[in-house]
Amino acid sequence: MRRAHRTAAAARAAGGAEVPDLPGSARKAAPARVALTAAALAVVEPHLGCASLTGWLRGAYSECGSIHTIRDKHGNRDSCQAQRARRRPGLSRAHAGAAALPVFRIRRLCKTYGAGELAVRALRDVDLDIAHGEFIVLLGASGSGKSTLLNILGGLDTASSGQVLFGEQDLSAAGEAGLTEYRRRHVGFVFQFYNLIPSLTVWENVALVTDIASAPMPADEAVGMVGLAARRDHFPSQLSGGEQQRVAIARAIVKRPAVLLCDEPTGALDYATGKLVLDVIERINRELGTTTIVITHNAAIAAMADRVVKLGDGTILSVENNAHKLSPAQLSW
Ligand SMILES: Nc1ncnc2c1ncn2[C@@H]1O[C@H](COP(=O)(O)OP(=O)(O)OP(=O)(O)O)[C@@H](O)[C@H]1O
Ligand SMILES: [Mg+2]
Repeated sequence: MRRAHRTAAAARAAGGAEVPDLPGSARKAAPARVALTAAALAVVEPHLGCASLTGWLRGAYSECGSIHTIRDKHGNRDSCQAQRARRRPGLSRAHAGAAALPVFRIRRLCKTYGAGELAVRALRDVDLDIAHGEFIVLLGASGSGKSTLLNILGGLDTASSGQVLFGEQDLSAAGEAGLTEYRRRHVGFVFQFYNLIPSLTVWENVALVTDIASAPMPADEAVGMVGLAARRDHFPSQLSGGEQQRVAIARAIVKRPAVLLCDEPTGALDYATGKLVLDVIERINRELGTTTIVITHNAAIAAMADRVVKLGDGTILSVENNAHKLSPAQLSW
């Protein structure tokens, strides 16, 4: 594919210039070739599961030869790796083999930041099991250890002592390469801030992840699941905050992760928009069976969980079952 065929979006991804406002037809005038800088990729690094972006660039695209999207027979932009994945039907969820076990078994988990007088004990002897398909809400005051726990479960951080088992895999002993592979294959992340690549469209932000996943759903399916099919060719700057967060959710779930980890996903959103985003998360948990953990400061959101875990000062204060879960539409705060 010739360099002249690079789209304006690709050029901006490489060069970091302003976001374009092109109609879809103009953008489809030539085959798209999405050139990504390491800086742009760093934005989605947890989703890609890459400890080393350089290594990922080398490894993930060895078959394609370059980072690019191409056109399918209908003229839609697509990626060669996503196309290959679709030619392998019947791939099941990655973690299906260990379905009888809890997804996570957390034992005497401790995390201490720093040392000596400056040491902060963020987690202290946390014990918890999380079952397949559960919807967990993590509540707790600021500084109680919620993000620390989520980051360790997601393989973004490691414990100081104790154990986290993901099925039969001991994450505490996985090492950096093992955690990278774990994140890449099994974990979808959603954060308070959306971390979308501004110079890529909705579809491109989502398709980026399908390029390295082993059994992704088509990017269009993920975009459709979050209700943004009509906006697939828009750029993040052309979307509301709630819509951008839904793109981030589509990007998190497109690889069909076993677990979806959300750190204050509605923290930057207003009431109505927050409910829309919760609705999407709830539907993914219900329809895909994705084990879901949501951190929030909003106690009202706890009513939609199977279980509510309250943290305080690095320890679990309580674990409560919800006999009757509420739908996001039934929540009010
Ligand atoms: N990299 C770090 N170095 C030192 N201390 C840290 C670090 N990360 C977190 N901490 C400390 O660990 C404790 C737990 O932090 P954590 O981010 O898990 O809290 P949180 O419950 O997510 O809070 P918030 O609701 O404000 O996001 C806090 O006291 C925090 O200051
Ligand atoms: Mg936090």
